[in-house]
Amino acid sequence: MGTLSVDHLVGIKDLSEQDIDLIFQTADNFKSVLNRPIKKVPSLRDITIANLFFENSTRTRLSFELAEKRLSADVVNFSAASSSVKKGETLIDTVNNILAMKVDMVVMRHPNPGAAKFLAENVNSQIVNAGDGAHEHPTQALLDSFSIREKLGTVKGKKVVIVGDISHSRVALSNIFCLQKLGAEVMVCGPATLIPKYIKDLNVRVEHDLRKALEWCDVANMLRIQLERMDVNYFPSLREYTMLYGLNKDLLDSLSKKIVVMHPGPINRGVEISSAVADGKQAIILDQVENGVAIRMAVIYLLAQKNKRQE
Ligand code: CP
Repeated sequence: MGTLSVDHLVGIKDLSEQDIDLIFQTADNFKSVLNRPIKKVPSLRDITIANLFFENSTRTRLSFELAEKRLSADVVNFSAASSSVKKGETLIDTVNNILAMKVDMVVMRHPNPGAAKFLAENVNSQIVNAGDGAHEHPTQALLDSFSIREKLGTVKGKKVVIVGDISHSRVALSNIFCLQKLGAEVMVCGPATLIPKYIKDLNVRVEHDLRKALEWCDVANMLRIQLERMDVNYFPSLREYTMLYGLNKDLLDSLSKKIVVMHPGPINRGVEISSAVADGKQAIILDQVENGVAIRMAVIYLLAQKNKRQE
């Protein structure tokens, strides 16, 4: 068994291709554990993990908690709405108080880009980024690429289009880094107002015509519009967005080949994807969610192993 090159998981940008391969091989093993009648291993009996969520979450929060419990770690959950952060305490003070209670690892979702890196540099604990603003969502990208590998055999050489609100999406940026490190070709598709100017520096194709993008790709990852991160309107109306960039059954069926359809969730049914597509045979959306637990088990296990070796 190898070791990760990193002490924290702040972003995919910091990982090597070997790190990602190691995470996938470890997740393969944990996925077989999750398919057994007893879905639990004693690997992290001696570890306590705090899940700090300063922003809403369903999938990521539950997936991390389940992953930690399947590894037999002790788990504490913390939500900003009920914490002393509301009374003016700093992030560092909050986390240092949690660490004083003998917590070994912190999983954090935060609305501010860079919050996970800031914490990793300023507290004495291993940090796992569960999404920091519009910056990175590394475990989402890992589970997405793992799901492509599971469905198509490999990520290398596959053509993946990420459709929608690229500018406000941490999923898009982490996916671009992860897919490229694994040898996929990446395209982004959406209205020009939702494609960031820096995209040209990332060696990514840009296409504004959804049909052309879908004809090009093997996999389409449909993103939702991140209305909560928008201070102005980036397109005239949701109805017009759906007409131009929504994936419906008629469009999917009219393509010259069968593509794989992904979505990180939460879905806005009828906006970026129709129910018929989201629930259809070409979609692997619930496989992504299932794989998230194995991927998060792998990340936490490998980081904890690295910490033990350094002690
Ligand atoms: N995909 C994802 O991060 O979903 P949640 O916001 O529900 O965690």
